[in-house]
Amino acid sequence: MTHLSRRQFTIGSAALAALGSIATRAIAAAATESGLKDVFARDFLFGTTLTTPTLEHGNAPLLDLVAREFNAITADNCMKWEPVEPREGDWQWTLPDRFVDFGTKHDMHIVGHNLVWHSQVPAWVFVDEAGKPVSAKRLNERLEKHIRTLAGRYKGRIAIWDVVNEAIEDDDKGWRKSKWLQILGPVFVERAFHLAHETDPKATLLYNDYNEHNPGKRKFMVEMIQDYKRRGVPIHGIGFQGHIGLDYPDLKEYEASIEAIAATGMRIHITELDIDVLPHAWQHMGAEISALQQYSDELDPYTKGLPADVEAKLTARYREVFELFVKHRDKIDRVTTWGTHDGKSWKNGFPVRGRTNYPLLFDRQLHRKPAYGAIAEVATR
Ligand code: GLA
Repeated sequence: MTHLSRRQFTIGSAALAALGSIATRAIAAAATESGLKDVFARDFLFGTTLTTPTLEHGNAPLLDLVAREFNAITADNCMKWEPVEPREGDWQWTLPDRFVDFGTKHDMHIVGHNLVWHSQVPAWVFVDEAGKPVSAKRLNERLEKHIRTLAGRYKGRIAIWDVVNEAIEDDDKGWRKSKWLQILGPVFVERAFHLAHETDPKATLLYNDYNEHNPGKRKFMVEMIQDYKRRGVPIHGIGFQGHIGLDYPDLKEYEASIEAIAATGMRIHITELDIDVLPHAWQHMGAEISALQQYSDELDPYTKGLPADVEAKLTARYREVFELFVKHRDKIDRVTTWGTHDGKSWKNGFPVRGRTNYPLLFDRQLHRKPAYGAIAEVATR
C-alpha cells in the first residue's frame, strides 16, 4: 500500500515551486497515484458517492479522481425505491448496474443505499388498485419482493447495505411516524433486516440515520440493538450519516454515541459526512428533507469564494472530526463523504435552494482543499 508522507500533503505551493522540476514531477506523480484510501489504510475504508448525473452521462476527471482516492462507493440516488422501481415491477437497472460495475472494476467496497426509507419511495407502494391505503399483508409482500429483487440482483457484489434509513425520531420520540410504521408497525424494520440477510447472507447490514449524537436517539438505538441481538435480528452496524456543521454537534455527544453504539457490538460506519459552512437556516441539524427555507442573501454569504478565516475554521473542524474518528478506528469501519466535490453537494440546495456551500474535501475544480491535508495529518501511519 502506498503512503504519502505528511510533508507531501502539507507542502505549500511556494515551497513546491522552489523545488527542482524533477522533484516537483515526482511529488505530483506520487500525489496522483495515491489517495485517501491509502492515507487511511490503517484506519478505515474511505468512501464517496456516485451521483445519478455522473452515472448517466459519465465524467472522466471525476471518475478518475474517485477511483484514485476512494475504496468504498455509494450511489446517491439510483438505488432508492423511487428511481429503481417507480412503478410496481418496473425495475430501472441501467444506473444501478453501471454503479456496481464501476465499484467492481475498481475493487471497491460497494454500498447499497437503501432498501427501506420513508422518503423517495413512490406513492404506489402504500396504496392498492383502488387508491385506498394498502393492507398490511400487501405491503409486507411488496417489501419482501423489493428487498429480494434488489439485494438479490447484486448478491455477493454489494458488501454493505443500508437496510433501513431514518426510522427513528430525535430526542425521546421513538419510531418515526411514517407510512411504514402506520401500516406495519415497528416490526417492518426487523423484517427488512431478516429479508436482506436471507437474500445476501454475506452482506454487512446497517441501520442508517442522522443526528446520531442526539442523546434520545442514541438511547433508543441502543435499546433497539440490544432487543434485536437478543432475538437474533441480523444487524451488524449503525450508519452515522454525519451531516454536521462548523459548530454542531458537540463532538463529546458524538463520541458518546460512537462509544455507546460500539459497546453493543455494532460496527460504526460514517455514511454521509459533510460539513456545512453556511449560516444556520433552521433549527434542526440533520437531513429531514421535507422542509426548505426561503433564500436570502444573508443566508448565502460566500458566493464569490470562501473567506480565509472560514476556510481555516472548516479545516480545523475537519481535523478535529477525523481526530475523533481515528481515535475510534477500532470501532469505525468506514468513513464516506456525501458527494465528492463542493460543486455537486446537496448542501448547495438544502435547507435553502441555490446557495454556494463548501462542505467537502475537494473544491469545484476537483482540487484537494486544505481540509484534505489536515485530515491526512491525523491518519495513522
Ligand atoms: C439523507 C439520505 C441520503 C440523501 C441525503 C440528502 O441523508 O440518507 O440518501 O438523500 O439525505 O442528500
